[in-house]
Amino acid sequence: MEQRRIVLGVTGGIAAYKTPELVRTLRRGGAAVRCAMTPAAGEFVAPLVLQTVSGEPVRTGLFDRVEEGAIDHVALADWADLLIVAPATANTLAKLAHGLADDVVSTVALATQAPLLVAPAMNVNMWRHPATQSNLATLRQRGVRVVGPETGALACGWEGEGRMAEPAAIAAAAALVGGPRPLAGEVVLVTAGGTREPVDAVRFLGNRSSGKMGFAVAGEAARRGAEVVLVAGPSALPTPAGVRRLDVETAQEMREAVLGELPRATIAVMAAAVADFRAARPEIRKIRKEDLPSEETLTLELVRNPDILAEICRHERRPVVVGFAAESQDLVETARRKLARKGCDLLVANDIAREGSGFDSDTNAVVFVWPGGEVEELPSLPKTEVAALLLDRVAKLRGGDG
Ligand code: C5P
Repeated sequence: MEQRRIVLGVTGGIAAYKTPELVRTLRRGGAAVRCAMTPAAGEFVAPLVLQTVSGEPVRTGLFDRVEEGAIDHVALADWADLLIVAPATANTLAKLAHGLADDVVSTVALATQAPLLVAPAMNVNMWRHPATQSNLATLRQRGVRVVGPETGALACGWEGEGRMAEPAAIAAAAALVGGPRPLAGEVVLVTAGGTREPVDAVRFLGNRSSGKMGFAVAGEAARRGAEVVLVAGPSALPTPAGVRRLDVETAQEMREAVLGELPRATIAVMAAAVADFRAARPEIRKIRKEDLPSEETLTLELVRNPDILAEICRHERRPVVVGFAAESQDLVETARRKLARKGCDLLVANDIAREGSGFDSDTNAVVFVWPGGEVEELPSLPKTEVAALLLDRVAKLRGGDG
């Protein structure tokens, strides 16, 4: 955000009350922010609040001689290297889609050459209306970025989609717009987290994977301009900005989701801890110990799950494929054998027995293992940095420079 010049266009929705926080978040990141408001926005947030938190004069009207004298609307449009419209009402989205310019926000949007990010906020029925959806499709097709809306309780009393994305999420999405995009044009498919294999109505077989490594890869790939699909096992982690997330539970569901996305993927990073086995016959009801033949033991029959990584490596038109291996002994040797067996282009091995590495940790000490047998050992690093180094290597495999 350092050095960025952001114009924040505020339109007339109740979520406008969150925009002072958005201005502060953007400024904390190092951006300079100038605000422009529609007349309706002034009903929800006072111009003086935005003026104070931005430290810049605020534009409220198109024809105000004093405002226009200080910085005219075209100069404001030219000054911006990013325009954010938040909240973006259904009315403003319609104006933006059709090129209307009858208030200072829509006029700046038409005049600027800067990229546009919108954060829609409205009643759920207005959001779902075909007119709004078609306006959004028009904007998206034109390259406009959209963040949110989120689903939940709406100020109007309805439940559903329509809540403006939180200021932190809008700022994160803004950071993705306009920066260097070395992975632009790539479609990155990432799996993350552990799978859950049902045993009965309440129990499952799972593992300790937190999903942090895969989520970090997905977020970093999006920051580098890739289109990212994240197939995630159950995880409370927030979806990284700019990432499309598909939630799955079992290995079989993960396989279906991965195969569905595979034809478009150019890079696949399989960071999920997929259960190797599932219960052969999961009970629909809860297993009660009173009903068992013996109260002391219970025998579960397990069957093998599909190996998703090995399967996609065998595909005729496969993307560049990265596998992960969590090992607790003979790290490099086991990883070499695993890479050969699965047939991936790069294997990221981590020693889960080591301090500051593996499941649920924010850091990871990994070794990159290449098909020729070479290894590259990294020190313990934050998972976000491991993700960045991994994507540098993957970009080289794709013939770029990361
Ligand atoms: O064989 P192992 O489970 O150690 O291999 C780990 C790698 O294989 C990871 O990349 C994991 O996502 C992937 N995997 C898979 N399907 C399985 C088991 C593992 O895709 N059933």
